[in-house]
Amino acid sequence: MIDLRSDTVTKPTEAMRRAMAAAEVGDDVYGEDPTVNRLQERAAEVFEKEAALFVPTGSMGNQIAVKLHTKPGDEVVIEERGHIFNYEMGTPAVVSGVMLRTVRSGNGCGHLTWDEIETALHIDQPYYSCPTGLICLENSHNFAGGSVMTAEHCSEICERAHALGIPVHMDGARIFNASIALNESVADLTRKCDSVQFCLSKGLGAPAGSILLGSKEFISEARTWRKRFGGGMRQIGILAAAGLMALDESPDRLHVDHDIAKRLAFGLADIPGIDIDVESVVTNIVIFDVAGTGKPAEAICDSLRNDEIMAISFGSRIRMVTHCDVSGTDIDKTLNSMKKAAVQQP
Ligand SMILES: Cc1ncc(COP(=O)(O)O)c(C=O)c1O
Repeated sequence: MIDLRSDTVTKPTEAMRRAMAAAEVGDDVYGEDPTVNRLQERAAEVFEKEAALFVPTGSMGNQIAVKLHTKPGDEVVIEERGHIFNYEMGTPAVVSGVMLRTVRSGNGCGHLTWDEIETALHIDQPYYSCPTGLICLENSHNFAGGSVMTAEHCSEICERAHALGIPVHMDGARIFNASIALNESVADLTRKCDSVQFCLSKGLGAPAGSILLGSKEFISEARTWRKRFGGGMRQIGILAAAGLMALDESPDRLHVDHDIAKRLAFGLADIPGIDIDVESVVTNIVIFDVAGTGKPAEAICDSLRNDEIMAISFGSRIRMVTHCDVSGTDIDKTLNSMKKAAVQQP
């Protein structure tokens, strides 16, 4: 199978499995797992933040941040296609009692400008509006096709938000992809954010785990909320060992995923009926519209599956994501199958 549904499907390498088997472990709820502690220290160092916490999933990291930055009745401003709004099961409402105020980014790139954010803020409007408690950003932006936000853009939003007393959380599930694409460090890309979540389990190739970063005080409270969420795990040094390898070794190979994603995008652009903006493909996510082929996206995905290729359809669009278990040869095979699948039958 060539699995292009997501970069979450990566399998740990042999070296990662060996590191996991040999990991020193302890009870992490007591803070006694040496490998987890090393991973957290290393992550804080790489991002130049005060502290870090290993959490089982990106969703949990994001939702702990929403919980800690807000109080019930607050509003959270987020781009309309953001993961926290669309794919985290309504947790902000269920757990934090907050409303999400969504805004569509004007140029469609997924990254709101301060002017766009400002239109959605509620400040000093007692008795009739929910006050804005948090702004959530996403870099790279998954459902905007892996688009990236520069350090300068992010810093500007944070500075303006802070001037109004509003914190900023970064859903950096794929922040390392953004870092490689922009040639800016993850520390710079998140410098002024109050909290950051990034995933070890996506392009970085670990089997599980995310890291939440912030101030010492924030992370100390996050530890309490991780336990409340049911995320206090025990001898998870076996996961952290894979996470450490992912953090230290995987970023250097992400450019390969970006190169083959670009190659895929160029190949797709040559297929009649497929609408894709090749220039917008800068990381490992390729989203394209197949309406022009006259075939439903779902039918095209079914036909790809017969050729042992998996992709995700939504509406008239298809998403393909490259990762460490996909090769250039796999992309050639995918393009050949796409040509067959997209042809209108007489
Ligand atoms: C942008 C983004 N944020 C957060 C998550 C959530 O991560 P997890 O699946 O580990 O909960 C995902 C997962 O795909 C994602 O794409």
